[in-house]
Amino acid sequence: MTNSQSAQLVIFGGTGDLALRKLQPALYKLQREGFLNNVCSIIALGRADRSSEDYRELVKTKMREFLPAHFWDDQHWHKFAAKLSYVSLDVNTLKDYHQLSEAIHDHADATTVFYLATASTLYNSICRNLHSIGIVNEHSRVVLEKPLGHDLKSCTDINHEVLQVFPEKNIFRIDHYLGKETVQNLLVLRFGNALFGPLWNSQYIDNIQITVAEDIGVEGRGDFYAKTGALRDMVQNHLLQLLCLVAMEPPANLRADTIRDEKVKVLQALRPITASNVKAKTVRGQYGAGAVNSAPVAAFLDETGFEDSESTETFVALQADVHNWRWEGTPFYLRTGKRLSRRFSEIVVELKKHPFSLFEGDPNDLPNKLVIRLQPEENITLYKVNKKPGLSRQLKLEQVGLNMDADLHDELQAHEAYERLLLDVLEGDQTLFMRRDEVEACWAWVDGIISAWQEAGIKPKTYAAGSMGPNAALALPEKNGRSWHE
Ligand code: BG6
Repeated sequence: MTNSQSAQLVIFGGTGDLALRKLQPALYKLQREGFLNNVCSIIALGRADRSSEDYRELVKTKMREFLPAHFWDDQHWHKFAAKLSYVSLDVNTLKDYHQLSEAIHDHADATTVFYLATASTLYNSICRNLHSIGIVNEHSRVVLEKPLGHDLKSCTDINHEVLQVFPEKNIFRIDHYLGKETVQNLLVLRFGNALFGPLWNSQYIDNIQITVAEDIGVEGRGDFYAKTGALRDMVQNHLLQLLCLVAMEPPANLRADTIRDEKVKVLQALRPITASNVKAKTVRGQYGAGAVNSAPVAAFLDETGFEDSESTETFVALQADVHNWRWEGTPFYLRTGKRLSRRFSEIVVELKKHPFSLFEGDPNDLPNKLVIRLQPEENITLYKVNKKPGLSRQLKLEQVGLNMDADLHDELQAHEAYERLLLDVLEGDQTLFMRRDEVEACWAWVDGIISAWQEAGIKPKTYAAGSMGPNAALALPEKNGRSWHE
């Protein structure tokens, strides 16, 4: 879409948590900043019968709840609300699509973006019905939320069906982690700074750690989560995407496909985890009762109440090995979990120590580390050693963290990942979206782990809510003389 073209947005799952908590606030903020002038209409779809007026009230209430107060102002809200409407529709019932078709035809010249913010089991049916009713043309785009399917087979089926209706260039498979400012900054950090390039390989890097720790539980999504688990919900997408950006080769240019080609190569180089090494390479956990942020919380099983959730992991830690020229010998430790002691996400790049140390025996003779913090705050810190100031005859070391950020705090806080990604969909830029082969390669590797768990009979170990996961997770890097950065 060029600047002069207009667009309309159709949101399936318009009354769902994602739409109300993330999408509508992001759209409102884009409108407020003048980025939505080309969007003539936002049509939300939901099963319930309700008027557009009611829907606008619902969005307003939720927005006042989720959006920091300083972003709110009545004038922008009225402008935004004028674009919002609601159509009731059961996604599986073809005749319900007639009303949507009429609404879309009010802006027949606009590019239509269909945002599927529903369970991915509904994507095939939605695409088939959109096609049958004749409202998809060569300009229409579709946004698919993660997780895309439940395993490689279901993901391939969805991709196949969606591709019957939309060409790959119009499909936007979303992973909101790619919209986070610091994640995008990884490309600039790695390829815009001569300082890091020569060191970025297994000759100088000892290990890389990627942690996405959450203090929340399953937040009313117990049904979905019990069938999904942390490996599918987080590792298959967010953590593997971070791994790809950290490990990939420099792309020849910044075109979406050039970058995605490099990411796919990393996924293809991941050494499969099998029944013979799954015990050594992975840890599954599930939270029991405990306390988070000083408040008592129930065990996962009590929270969900599902008998079959006993084998659902709410925590996973694993060692991934990227079997290629650059990374052979450098383990990538990944971990994510719910109800952990605190919320933080970070990538830690730990360099090797010198082959010979002049300061042997000093407890602070520590390796350099680059810590890329994604949340709650976004920053980059380089840990180095200094001489401890003072007149002592003996040289003593201390570790200091250099804050490598420009003073961007306000700017970073101002934009949510979904704003960046929605804007890119409207602009037709696929760089921050996953291509079909990428998502399928992620599933292929993750499916291998799930089969290995089954074959080796690995069940989740209980950890206390408010801890950092099962003890075995702490021991995972320790087997090789390493430890998690805390
Ligand atoms: C979602 C997962 O994709 O990411 C959730 O389905 C998780 O389970 C969420 O809580 C975490 O996102 P963020 O941006 O809060 O780290």
